[in-house]
Amino acid sequence: MKSEPPQAAIAASPLRGRSPYAAIAPRLPQGETLTAAALLAQPRAELELEIGPGRGTFLFERAAACPGVGLIGVEVRLKWATLVDDRLKSEGLGDRCRVFAEDMRVALPRFADGLFRRIFIHFPDPWWKKRHAKRRLASAEPMAECVRVLARGGELFVQTDVEEAVTRYRGALDTLEALAPNGDTAGEPWLAHNPYNARSPREYRAMRDGLPIHRLRYVRR
Ligand SMILES: C[S@@+](CC[C@H](N)C(=O)[O-])C[C@H]1O[C@@H](n2cnc3c(N)ncnc32)[C@H](O)[C@@H]1O
Repeated sequence: MKSEPPQAAIAASPLRGRSPYAAIAPRLPQGETLTAAALLAQPRAELELEIGPGRGTFLFERAAACPGVGLIGVEVRLKWATLVDDRLKSEGLGDRCRVFAEDMRVALPRFADGLFRRIFIHFPDPWWKKRHAKRRLASAEPMAECVRVLARGGELFVQTDVEEAVTRYRGALDTLEALAPNGDTAGEPWLAHNPYNARSPREYRAMRDGLPIHRLRYVRR
């Protein structure tokens, strides 16, 4: 069952800030339960979701690596959602790849059950200050919503160079019975490498700076 967007999340959303992009940012279409047909002009059998794509490198590389896949990005920063969505269109990918300017805590409850085959969360939660802790996605409610929109057998991939963050994600994901760890070793979620033939901007930066990258993968039972 779909759940309502949490009111506290809406109140705390960075989307509330003023931005010159507010009038033109691509927003999710109207409607209660969004399906692939509502999101994409040419929906594909497999749909993937990136939460917080930022400058969008992963989406472009993933689109090139998997021509048969549809891609949706949900990015809370109006500027990056607008610029990346515009570039997807100008590169001829807009029929199967879109970025919407939305807070994932508000957007996910609007997606249909089991809509996505894969969900990617790359280098999330740049909220270090205690007073910003409520914005973090690594908590039970947003992760349970990720599970709801994941298809059976679908994958949830999280990577970060921040050990504290990966510990928080693992803690939140391990409590969800609908997920099974799906890493390199049976019964463990850890992956040594990113297997998706596409990298995010922060992933490139972490690799260039020689930072360790912690990667988790779970599969929907
Ligand atoms: C540290 S940046 C990483 C960007 C990109 N994923 C990468 O790996 O380079 C985190 C991204 O998540 C976005 N973000 C944070 N909270 C979000 C939320 N609640 N909904 C959607 N996007 C969010 C930020 O705006 C930012 O683009």
